[in-house]
Amino acid sequence: VRLTRLLETSTFRLTLAHLGLFVGSALALLALVYFASVRFMERQTIETIEVEMAALLDRYAERGLPGLRAAVARRAQDARDLASVYLLLGPGGQQLAGSFAVLDGPLPEPGAFGRAMVEEWTEDGRRSERPFLVLRRDLMLGGTLVVGRDIAEKLHIQRLLLTAIGLGGGLMAVLGLVGGIGMSRWMLGRLDRVNRATREIMAGDLGRRIEERGSGDEFDELARNLNAMLERIERLVAGMRQVSDNVAHDLRTPLHRIRSRLEVALMGRPDEAQTRELLEQTLRDADALIATFNALLKIARIEAEAPQGEWERVDLAALASEVFELYEPLAADRQIALRLEAPAPAEIRGNRQLIAQALANIVDNAIKYTPEGGAVAIRAGDGAAPRLEVLDSGPGIPPELRQHALERFVRLDPDRSTPGNGLGLSLVDAVARLHEAELELADNSPGLRVTMRFRNAAAHAGS
Ligand SMILES: Nc1ncnc2c1ncn2[C@@H]1O[C@H](COP(=O)(O)OP(=O)(O)O)[C@@H](O)[C@H]1O
Ligand SMILES: [Mg+2]
Repeated sequence: VRLTRLLETSTFRLTLAHLGLFVGSALALLALVYFASVRFMERQTIETIEVEMAALLDRYAERGLPGLRAAVARRAQDARDLASVYLLLGPGGQQLAGSFAVLDGPLPEPGAFGRAMVEEWTEDGRRSERPFLVLRRDLMLGGTLVVGRDIAEKLHIQRLLLTAIGLGGGLMAVLGLVGGIGMSRWMLGRLDRVNRATREIMAGDLGRRIEERGSGDEFDELARNLNAMLERIERLVAGMRQVSDNVAHDLRTPLHRIRSRLEVALMGRPDEAQTRELLEQTLRDADALIATFNALLKIARIEAEAPQGEWERVDLAALASEVFELYEPLAADRQIALRLEAPAPAEIRGNRQLIAQALANIVDNAIKYTPEGGAVAIRAGDGAAPRLEVLDSGPGIPPELRQHALERFVRLDPDRSTPGNGLGLSLVDAVARLHEAELELADNSPGLRVTMRFRNAAAHAGS
């Protein structure tokens, strides 16, 4: 992953913003700690100096300049370690007592604190300078008293603190930056895999899938969802391809038949009866073609329909009884015992006309594929779920072909002489999908049992 690309990623920018905020607030906190401790240390020094000064000024008030001079001399003697310094100047500016000779730089204003460098001689004769905080007071009858305290160590601590804060902040920034780059690179790497897979899929490899790592994180979830989507798209595309293949195939046959009949009519010299026969056959084929187109259009329209578009309350029992009446004559023709079992109302919300059409298609199949003398039952019930059921005593459909039978133009035995276009169950499937109903083809041993389980009317009430 190239660095420039990395810098453009949102992860990296987010990390950077986060880092800035974090380092900024950490620095603010450390600065607060720094200034608080500096102030604390300064206060300590100032208080010590003020106590010292007050004691000496007391002595001055009691014993005058000579007494003060003795006291200063004694203290200067005691303060061998040079932690404190004292200086007493006479009215003329001459040094009367004190532990240091020269104050580097001017003295502070009377009554004020100031910094001063004091020179120090070590025992082996080397000279060094130490910083002091000093307080100057002018005496009432002339003269100046200076008291100071070593602040070298405190300054040192302050410098150490500053260095530590600087180093810590810098380290934090560097670590954060490295971490941010690492994180972005990792994210980018995973996203790149997704992007690469998508590009390959767009380039035409519809079977390609995005790698899942099994870690269950959000990238895996993304991959899983994309894969599920691809699965569905692939199935739809395959379905569509099959449909168009089938359309072409199924429509070509009757069109060819029509064409060759017309040719025969033109070439030969058919008498009136033959002409009539030819025209009737052609008309039948044309009708079948139109019916197929209508069924296809209808299914497409159902699939495009917004759920709950024209929905109303539908009583499945009443609907079953209507379809029953519609098919009674046909069943009687084929000597099939058609029964209705719809003892109680079963209400759902749905498109009444479409559900009636679907049930009619199922009943039509049952009567069509059940041999003469068989039995067909139409049931409407309201148990765990409102449902429609059609049972027959025919040959049934083998389990492995049941899903296949729902596809468009699929006729399990295409050579069979029964009329049909293989679209009946496709429409049933589309209607079931529209209603979020469960469509089940099962064994009635012998025969087929087709069940549509709907959702309760109440389940739709809120939506
Ligand atoms: N009740 C049934 N018993 C046996 N086979 C059936 C039954 N219903 C449907 N089938 C099979 O499923 C296929 C698809 O049905 P359908 O979509 O209605 O098409 P069509 O009835 O036009 O052939 C049928 O061709 C038939 O082979
Ligand atoms: Mg059918």
